[in-house]
Amino acid sequence: MFIDERQFKEYMTPEEIRGVIKNLAEQINRDHGVDEKVLLVGVLKGAIVVMADLVRQLHSDVRVDFVRTASVGKSKTSAGTVCLVKDISIDVCDTHVIIVEEIIDSGRALKFLYDRFKSAKPKSLKVATMMDKREKRLVDVGADYVGKIVDDQFLIGYGLDLEEKCRNLPGIYSLRYPN
Ligand code: IMP
Ligand code: MG
Repeated sequence: MFIDERQFKEYMTPEEIRGVIKNLAEQINRDHGVDEKVLLVGVLKGAIVVMADLVRQLHSDVRVDFVRTASVGKSKTSAGTVCLVKDISIDVCDTHVIIVEEIIDSGRALKFLYDRFKSAKPKSLKVATMMDKREKRLVDVGADYVGKIVDDQFLIGYGLDLEEKCRNLPGIYSLRYPN
């Protein structure tokens, strides 16, 4: 796919991403036995590529499901409230649940999901993210498994979109001149 190099610069090569995902998988595998029931919950749409690569490196008794959130009443001055557009269809009882994100920014969407899954009383609840824009956090929520801590910048590729485009790029690119 064509990338305008005046606008974007390469941030992570596919090779570097492979290393980050491998490291995430190793962390998760250390904490979960081969016989343990683990449900990976991917947050649509951005986490689809991370999910596909991560799930194939986990050695537990893994299931996969997805959720999708939306911001209601979002305006230029307010972030709005988060709501669930798509829920999981698998029971979380007796299951270790891991919410999988490609990137955490303000943390609003994740905080909403975390609280919601917590109230469903899974065996344990953890968060895995490929990237963490830690300095942008506005609410008190964090990830248990972090691939890479990144600065405040706009990133595309490997699931991350620019107005729904660029999710298919195998590498990650950053916007050169954010406004
Ligand atoms: P928040 O943590 O609730 O602010 O939202 C995080 C979500 O916003 C992520 O899961 C992404 O879908 C999206 N997002 C955050 N930062 C970026 C970025 O740099 N590029 C593309 N999408 C992003
Ligand atoms: Mg996301």
